[in-house]
Amino acid sequence: MNITGKTKILGIFGYPVNHTISPAMHNAVIKILGLDMVYLPFEVKPSNLQHAVNGIRGLGILGINITIPHKKAVVKFLDKISEEAKLIGAVNTIVNKDGCLIGHNTDGYGYIASLKQEIGFNPKGKNIIIIGAGGAARGILTTLAAKKPKAITIVNRTLSRAVSLARAFKSRFPDIQFKTIALNENILKTSLEDVNLLINITSVGMKKNEALKIQLEALPKTAIVSDIVYNPLETSLLKRAKKLGLMTHGGLGMLIHQGAKSFKLWTGIDAPIKVMRKAALKALKIGGGR
Ligand code: ATR
Repeated sequence: MNITGKTKILGIFGYPVNHTISPAMHNAVIKILGLDMVYLPFEVKPSNLQHAVNGIRGLGILGINITIPHKKAVVKFLDKISEEAKLIGAVNTIVNKDGCLIGHNTDGYGYIASLKQEIGFNPKGKNIIIIGAGGAARGILTTLAAKKPKAITIVNRTLSRAVSLARAFKSRFPDIQFKTIALNENILKTSLEDVNLLINITSVGMKKNEALKIQLEALPKTAIVSDIVYNPLETSLLKRAKKLGLMTHGGLGMLIHQGAKSFKLWTGIDAPIKVMRKAALKALKIGGGR
């Protein structure tokens, strides 16, 4: 890496931030494209978030990714918010345009782009089940609903969260059929017959011996099972789906494509996806994770 007097700075704010693999992905792209830039991790305590955001302005940092736990809290410190980030209520990317800080959210885009690129899936007219009703589910739903699926069923441990999420989306997307179900072992027997895609949008599966207790047997053989968890690369949910002969889709692609979209917002350049994937896989092997 060659730091010069003109080196532009990109980076990520998180707390903790030491497990992030975003610096590996972005610096690999910077290197291969020969850009005079560097992407750095910044550990920002919640109580320092406003100072850190002012630091983007003060230091002329070109762009910043925002990760856990700051995605919602950062919104109030920015000058403008994209429509999508407004709908999601969270920001994962800040662009510094001549001192004006603009918040975007590329997570939902990243998920849909990876579905398309990796397995050629188009949500239009499809019947989709999502498990989870938290911030990540809201992000993916926002982009997913815009692609006009026929029906979305939200399954969640706490049913009331699924119901309020469905209500919010129903008023915005009246043509989509929304259903809600409480997460339990037997739900899928009756609800799964004509499902095209089932997505886990909870963090369950990140820890060893932790698995979603869901019966996949009732899914049609054409269904795809997708998991946003990427560490491990193949969760026990995906392993079970594979054993049943179902097509699977892991979470690493979402991370890569959200990163590529952030990079495009900062630089105007299409990041080479293959380079990002290779760097992400290497970083995961040597102990990264978020
Ligand atoms: P995120 O922003 O990552 O989505 P979140 O808003 O805290 O985080 O939401 C976490 C989601 O994972 C929720 O849907 C949560 O279910 P509840 O709403 O019932 O809390 C789900 N989740 C977390 N741990 C879970 C577990 N052990 N079993 C089932 N669902 C779980």
